[in-house]
Amino acid sequence: MSDARATWIAADPASVHILEIGEKLADAATTLLITGESGSGKDQLARWIHERGSRRDAPLLKIDCASLPAELVESELFGHERGAFTGAVARKPGRLEMAQGGTIVLDEIAALGPGLQAKLLRVLEERTFERLGGTETLRMDSRLMALTNTDLGQAVATGRFREDLFFRLNVLALVVPPLRERRGDIAALAAHFVARLGPVHGRADASLAPEAVKLLESYDWPGNVRELKNAIEHALVFAKTWQLDIADFPEILRAAGRPSAAAGALRSLEEIEREAIKATLEATRYKIGQAAEVLGISRKTLLEKRKKYGLM
Ligand SMILES: Nc1ncnc2c1ncn2[C@@H]1O[C@H](COP(=O)(O)OP(=O)(O)OP(=O)(O)O)[C@@H](O)[C@H]1O
Ligand SMILES: [Mg+2]
Repeated sequence: MSDARATWIAADPASVHILEIGEKLADAATTLLITGESGSGKDQLARWIHERGSRRDAPLLKIDCASLPAELVESELFGHERGAFTGAVARKPGRLEMAQGGTIVLDEIAALGPGLQAKLLRVLEERTFERLGGTETLRMDSRLMALTNTDLGQAVATGRFREDLFFRLNVLALVVPPLRERRGDIAALAAHFVARLGPVHGRADASLAPEAVKLLESYDWPGNVRELKNAIEHALVFAKTWQLDIADFPEILRAAGRPSAAAGALRSLEEIEREAIKATLEATRYKIGQAAEVLGISRKTLLEKRKKYGLM
């Protein structure tokens, strides 16, 4: 979430649809659940929605539930009083308190342990909370956005996530499809990253060769938009001219773009026949008698096939 103002590039109908819904949800007070594969743009979308709503001038604060230890997630969220635990030398407000009127983003909510799941459910139901070790009851008037790249329904089914909390979070939900399912975005995103990152790499004039765009559009992007952004950055660093070409992109992309040996061998008999006739005609400088002899067919058959394959 490094952009000063979040743009959400959308060219594919699937993304345009997400923006339309996002716009409608921007002012809702209800918790929003954003699901999507890693790198698909959940953070970016959360910020975009925050900035569309009336909370835009209040802070957007984020807690990454997957990378912080459970105790830290808890104190980051609720804050603590002095002496609440060893090392709590002073009172510290939590994100819930600091974001008053703004948005709290809980990233990778599926990683929340059972204790915190219960606490969060209570906060969402009562809209009140206390600092750790404290007795003062504080009101929550920020909006919660929960992000996850795992299937929460599945986590409920296997007992890893509370069903009641899931229902609470799932009232408003947005699914960001993987990039390979909205290929219409690829060219627009690529152009956006070239324009934004070009100047950073001394290539303010950079643009994409049409074949490079085709390569980008044919790749599956397991790392989604983040991988696309990194690929553009790679190409900007390696580009020899202002035009980013296939050769400038990471090998993994170029390898995926190359037809494999097996796929290359899969041609129809007609294609093979056409190629054989074409090559023989060229080799014999279009001497029909000689070419027919080499191919082992009659002059009449060769003339028919020449016509059929448009080899005049
Ligand atoms: N539609 C978009 N328009 C412009 N930039 C985008 C878009 N979607 C994603 N990005 C950019 O792609 C990168 C990855 O997006 P983001 O961090 O939002 O993904 P994520 O879904 O939160 O990934 P993770 O699950 O790994 O946290 C970021 O640099 C973000 O700015
Ligand atoms: Mg993220």
